[in-house]
This record gives sequence, structure tokens and C-alpha cells, in this order.
Amino acid sequence: MPRRDATNPTMTTNQTLQRFLTTPLTIRDREVRGRLFMAPMAKLGNTAFRQIVTAFGGYGLLFSEMCWAASVPCGNGHDQGGFTWRPEEDLSALVCQIFGNHPETMAWAAQRIAREGFFGVDLNFGCAVARICKKGYGAALLKEPGQAAAIIKAIRNAVSMPVFVKFRTGWDDDPEIAVDSARRFEDAGADALTFHPRVAPDRRTRPPRWEYIARVKEAVRIPVIGNGDVFDRHDCEKMIAQTGCDGVALGRLALARPWVFAEWTSDFQPSEDIYLKSALALTEHLEACYGPHTGKRRFHRYAAYFTANFRYGHFLYGRLCRVSDLAGVRAVLREHLTEDPDVLPRPNMHRFR
Ligand SMILES: Cc1cc2nc3c(=O)[nH]c(=O)nc-3n(C[C@H](O)[C@H](O)[C@H](O)COP(=O)(O)O)c2cc1C
Repeated sequence: MPRRDATNPTMTTNQTLQRFLTTPLTIRDREVRGRLFMAPMAKLGNTAFRQIVTAFGGYGLLFSEMCWAASVPCGNGHDQGGFTWRPEEDLSALVCQIFGNHPETMAWAAQRIAREGFFGVDLNFGCAVARICKKGYGAALLKEPGQAAAIIKAIRNAVSMPVFVKFRTGWDDDPEIAVDSARRFEDAGADALTFHPRVAPDRRTRPPRWEYIARVKEAVRIPVIGNGDVFDRHDCEKMIAQTGCDGVALGRLALARPWVFAEWTSDFQPSEDIYLKSALALTEHLEACYGPHTGKRRFHRYAAYFTANFRYGHFLYGRLCRVSDLAGVRAVLREHLTEDPDVLPRPNMHRFR
């Protein structure tokens, strides 16, 4: 029996969620067709993976891999870095994420991103990886509120497209810090915030504090996109109901099930062979974009999340890691996934963080 929506008993909860996720959202002066987004993911939200997500559709915006701001103005758009897209890719639904800490450099990068026709630019104030933070980039900027605001202001003065900021709670587990950061970002000129309510040193081990998203949402007038541990429809409904967020960004679930955007926003029903077909298609796209060697390395990263779909995913993951080329990857995929792959109702993301 489909669950009924208590506030509107003529609708199922699936229909209520679909209606919310397909309601357009205005960011600055631009309309986004829906409220379900793909979060930025380094080495994984690449153009090959986006080709898979785009074929299914259903998302509002996709966020790119993070790109080093200093390299963006001279990037050619088709080499192997993060600032890469396919000639036919619809950049008007893509937001380019950049990292760095020098306001002018970040502003030059944003100008280039605007010239290419992206929907907007996203500032990475959330990456907590030591080698990024040591240089004063990513979440390190949450310790430097003046510098973070200077970056946003420089970009705001340089471009008219939407400016997003993606951030975490901060370095201490205190919602006031997140609220304070959010207000500063809005005052400096940000048009939307993606908030992942974890402290910076936490690499997704403890649950995110969704109640902090509600606090941030109450504190600012610009749209707030909630993020963190949405692994099925029920999580998504709960995050929206508990926080009042304007949209939801999916990270690891999008990797595991790239059709999730279509599934939650339309009548799309995944077929039984969707796991095999989309994994095989990704091997082809990765090979076309990156060549066989880097393509295989990228697939291995992806496999960690993809195999979280299956009851015996760790076994499949081990086999995929042991093969030496993409032909081997395809053979293992066909062998394991052709007949009843024993799909879990909800991917086991706790195996891979
Ligand atoms: C493999 C991987 C790469 C990521 N790279 C980035 C990144 O480049 N920029 C960023 O802001 N966040 C990055 N994140 C964080 C995600 O955008 C997201 O905040 C986090 O995974 C929590 O969302 P989820 O629970 O839906 O996965 C990355 C996460 C993963 C799993």
C-alpha cells in the first residue's frame, strides 16, 4: 500500500515529494526547474558520470567536481582536470564549483565560468581534506570569516550569475557558528547556500545534524539546500519536513543510483537491468573521456559507491578492484549483475564513506 500524505490524504507521500521536488526555484534572477540537486564530488561528478545522470534527467542542477580556481581561467574545457565538459553538455543546468582562497583569482575564475554559460559558480568552503585545508582552502575558510566574505564580495562584483556557497557547520559543533557563517555569506552577496551540517574534521562518520539546517534556513532569506545522508525517499521527505530547506543535494546516493533524480520527480520506474546497463555505459563514457587507464581508475573510485547497492557488494567491489583493465571490469559486471543482483532497498553507504 502506498503511504498517504497526512496533510493531503488524496495524495501519496511519493506524489507530495514529487510535487515539492518539481516546483521551480528562483536563485538570484534565474529559475531552476526543480529542487533535487547533485552535490559536487571530486573525481566522481565528472563529465562522464554527468552523461549518465543527464540521460535519466529529473534534477534541478548538477554541481561539477571541484576545480582549482587558479587553473580555471586558462583551462580548455576538455583536458583531464575538473573544469571539463562535453561539447553537447547543457551548461545552463551545471554549476561549476571552485576552490582557492585568493579573492581576485577566484573572481577571474568566476568570470571565465560565466563566459562559458554555466548556471552559476559554487564556492567550496566545506572540503575538510587535510591537503586542501593546509593551504587555507575549503573548510579552512570557515576559520577566516573575513577572507571568506572578501572572496564572495570579489566574485559578486565580477559576475552577475548566481553565486552559491557550500559549507559545513564549522570546526566546532555549534549551530550558532553555522548561522553566523550563513548570514555573513548572504550579506557578502551569496545567492544560495548548500549546507552539510557536520563539523569539518568529521569525514561523514557521525550523523549530520539536520536540525542545524532548520536554524540556517530561518536565519537567511536566500535559498538553502540541505545536504547529508539522504539515502532513500523517506530520508528526503524527512529532511524537507524537519528543516524547511528549499532543496536537497544528493551526493553518494546519486553515485549509487544515478537515476534517482528521475525516479523521485516523475513516473520513471527503474528496470531490473538498470544497474548493469548504467555501470557498463559509465565504463564506455569514462574510456571516451579519460582513456583506458585513467578511465579504469575513475571507475574503481565509483565502484565503491555503486557496489553499496548490493547485498554482496563488498565481494563485487573486491573483484572489480582486482581486474587490470576496463574489459575486465565489464566482464565482472556482466557475470555478477546479469541475473538477480540482490539489490538492497537502501544502499549500504556505511561501508564506504
Ligand atoms: C567522493 C566524494 C567527493 C566529494 N567531493 C566534494 C567536492 O569536490 N566539493 C564539495 O563541496 N563536497 C564534496 N564532497 C561532499 C559531498 O558534496 C556531500 O557534501 C557529502 O557527500 C554529503 O552528502 P551525501 O550524504 O549525500 O553523500 C564529496 C563527497 C564524496 C563522497
